[in-house]
Amino acid sequence: MIELRKITGDNIDEVIALEVEENQEDFLETTNLRSFADAHMLNADGIPATPLAIYADEVAVGFLMYIYDTLDHETFENEVFYGKKSYFIWHIMIGMSYQGKGYGKLAFEKMMMDIETMPDGEAEYLTLFYRTSNVIAKTLYASFGFVDTGIIQDNSMLAIKNLDWKITESLVE
Ligand SMILES: CC(C)(COP(=O)(O)OP(=O)(O)OC[C@H]1O[C@@H](n2cnc3c(N)ncnc32)[C@H](O)[C@@H]1OP(=O)(O)O)[C@@H](O)C(=O)NCCC(=O)NCCS
Repeated sequence: MIELRKITGDNIDEVIALEVEENQEDFLETTNLRSFADAHMLNADGIPATPLAIYADEVAVGFLMYIYDTLDHETFENEVFYGKKSYFIWHIMIGMSYQGKGYGKLAFEKMMMDIETMPDGEAEYLTLFYRTSNVIAKTLYASFGFVDTGIIQDNSMLAIKNLDWKITESLVE
C-alpha cells in the first residue's frame, strides 16, 4: 500500500538517504534535503509548500513536494494561465532500488487526490517542469492528463493540467 506521510524527526534521515541513479540526477534540479529546506523557506515566506515522504508497505521509498502559488513568471505573460493560481509539483522522486514497481504512479495519484481537496486554497491549474529528455516522467505525466505548454526553461518543459473538472474522474482505474 502506498501512503504519503509528513516528514518528521523519525523519517527525515531515511528520506534524505534516498537517491536516484547517477544518470537521473540531472532530471532533478535539487536534492530531497534541499527541497525540504526550500519548503520551510517558502512556508516562512507565505507560499504554502507540502513536502511528503512516499511510503510503500511501511518503507520510505520516495519523496515529493508541491507548492501553492501564482503563475506570474514573466515568461508566462502571454499565456491564458498567467496570474492564475496553481499547485506546482516542485519535486518527485522514487529511490533507485524502488523504481519501476508502480510506486511513482500510485504516489502521484494520491498526491493529485490530496490536491483535489484544494488544501491550501482554490486553484485552476496543476503544473510542473520535467526535463525534455526524461521520457519516463513525460509518459507518467501525460498519463494523468498533463499537456506540454511548449514553454522550455533550462531544458525543462512546463506541463499543465486544468483543474476545472474533478481530478479523480481522470485517474486511471
Ligand atoms: C519518474 C519516477 C518518479 C517514476 O516513478 P516509478 O516508481 O519509477 O514509476 P512507476 O513504476 O510508477 O511507473 C509509472 C509510469 O511511468 C512510465 N514508465 C515507467 N518506466 C518506464 C520506462 N522504462 N519507459 C517509459 N515509461 C516508463 C509508465 O507510464 C508507467 O506507467 P505504466 O506502468 O502504467 O505504464 C521515478 O522513476 C524517478 O524517481 N525517477 C528519477 C527522478 C525523476 O525523474 N523525477 C521526476 C522529475 S520531473
